[in-house]
Amino acid sequence: MKIACIGAGYVGGPTMAMIAYKCPDIEVVVLDIAQARIDQWNSDKLPIYEPGLDEIVFEARGRNLFFSIDVEKHVGEADIIFISVNTPTKVRGVGAGAAADLTYWESAARTIAKACTSSKIIVEKSTVPVKTAEAVEKVLARNCVDKSIRFDILSNPEFLAEGTAIDDLKKPDRVLIGGRETESGLKAVATLKAVYERWVPSERVITANLWSAELSKLTANAFLAQRISSINAISALCEATGANVKQVSYAIGTDSRIGPKFLNASVGFGGSCFQKDILNLVYICESVGLKEVADYWRSVVTINDYQKDRFVNRMLEAMFNTVSGKRCAIFGFAFKKDTGDTRETPAIDVCHKLMADKAKIACYDPQVTEDQMIRDLSLDPYMWDHPAGQVTPKMTMVKQQFTTCKTAYEAAAGAHCIAIMTEWDEFKTLDYQKLYDGMVKPAYIFDGRNIVDPVKLREIGFVVYGIGQPLDPFVTESAF
Ligand code: UDX
Ligand code: UDX
Ligand code: ADP
Repeated sequence: MKIACIGAGYVGGPTMAMIAYKCPDIEVVVLDIAQARIDQWNSDKLPIYEPGLDEIVFEARGRNLFFSIDVEKHVGEADIIFISVNTPTKVRGVGAGAAADLTYWESAARTIAKACTSSKIIVEKSTVPVKTAEAVEKVLARNCVDKSIRFDILSNPEFLAEGTAIDDLKKPDRVLIGGRETESGLKAVATLKAVYERWVPSERVITANLWSAELSKLTANAFLAQRISSINAISALCEATGANVKQVSYAIGTDSRIGPKFLNASVGFGGSCFQKDILNLVYICESVGLKEVADYWRSVVTINDYQKDRFVNRMLEAMFNTVSGKRCAIFGFAFKKDTGDTRETPAIDVCHKLMADKAKIACYDPQVTEDQMIRDLSLDPYMWDHPAGQVTPKMTMVKQQFTTCKTAYEAAAGAHCIAIMTEWDEFKTLDYQKLYDGMVKPAYIFDGRNIVDPVKLREIGFVVYGIGQPLDPFVTESAF
């Protein structure tokens, strides 16, 4: 059996590497239009940072795992073709800022139609709006010259989270496969199911109809994001009442109907999926006239934006309503720990707001490059998936207020405050006395991830703000 995957990104790369690793007799080829990305996959330094990924790729690569830009050849030879291309939010035209941009998808479908000389199973892997499978079927049916060729479309949404992708792929809570409930559709589902059952217990491989599978992915992400917005909304109330959101999270999480996971209050969720998928859901609801449902889900994004604003407002208030010319150390830029990914990271919004108030930012992140940060701070929202120009005037402007540092200590030296944006483990064990000694007084810590102990840091002398935690006596009366 041969498998091809169009799109060598965060989803396609690790997922295909795991299939190849677990099924040495299946040839897996990961394809991309970007030569540079394929070169990186074929090098010692893989294009994405993901714990455990290197071992798996290095073991399977060259054996039965290959990376190539020869899309047509390998698509033509494959029995199963995964589509794992990017589906960014549209930046212009109808549905801008909400609908998914399916340009890459359609282009992948057209490539398949052109390249195939035999029947194939096509698997949707990237998140797409419900009924995309139908559109792909139409493109394939009308573009394939040989009418005897059959395409069975399956939806097999990916539930892996960045930073834990390898564990999620090795031991998934479930694998979901949706297909048409016809004879050939069911056969295609069974073929893909058999691939996963090589390492996933069969009761964890769930099957559903095509539309249920597509909608389940959007719904899962919307629910997860909704939990974060719910606890973040409560964090604001905690600050106003003296409750501690950590205690509230723990107390409600012990109810087995609620469960303990995904209840960490934070500066806001980021990542390429949550906001995009919710906006997508909102757009679909509006398209079918479900205004109330659309409003309900949109509020999850509204609270997320509110939480980011609230965080910066706390910073400003505490620092006597001005950060003009003040050095602000930003600890972490990635949207979560154990990844170098910055898509939709709350750090972007926080830096933008501080820079608008003329702060000088000194940022340290163990995995994000300076180039990436400057690019992120210079681009318009949702532009991360779109090709960017080289050096723009905006980038030059950003560089006047934003520098990157090689360590957390370097970032904090001479700073008025530290703002923790990402929950990297190393931030938990820093020598905070040493950081304090090198800072301007009063020295502030604004913990956007609740990873430091406010009591201990106050003993050192820091003024500490933690999301949803009792406020610092230094500032409660005046600012907070
Ligand atoms: C609720 C809380 O569960 C309980 O912890 C608290 O102490 C009191 O309030 P109760 O109102 O007795 O308990 O019943 P519950 O089982 O929570 O159901 C509440 C309503 O939600 C019912 O009308 C029920 O039919 C409905 N429900 C529940 C659903 O519509 N769908 C569900 O999946 C679960
Ligand atoms: C998510 C889904 O978890 C995954 O199933 C789906 O396939 C892709 O989208 P990912 O975006 O990689 O994965 O990371 P996730 O761990 O879900 O975190 C998303 C954001 O929520 C991060 O910014 C994270 O810091 C934040 N978060 C998460 C919180 O603020 N609090 C929490 O309790 C959990
Ligand atoms: P995700 O997080 O969904 O995996 P990424 O942006 O990381 O998204 O990866 C998607 C990849 O798909 C990119 O590397 C992009 O170059 C590639 N791609 C997009 N369109 C096509 C296409 N028509 N053919 C081949 N590769 C494509």
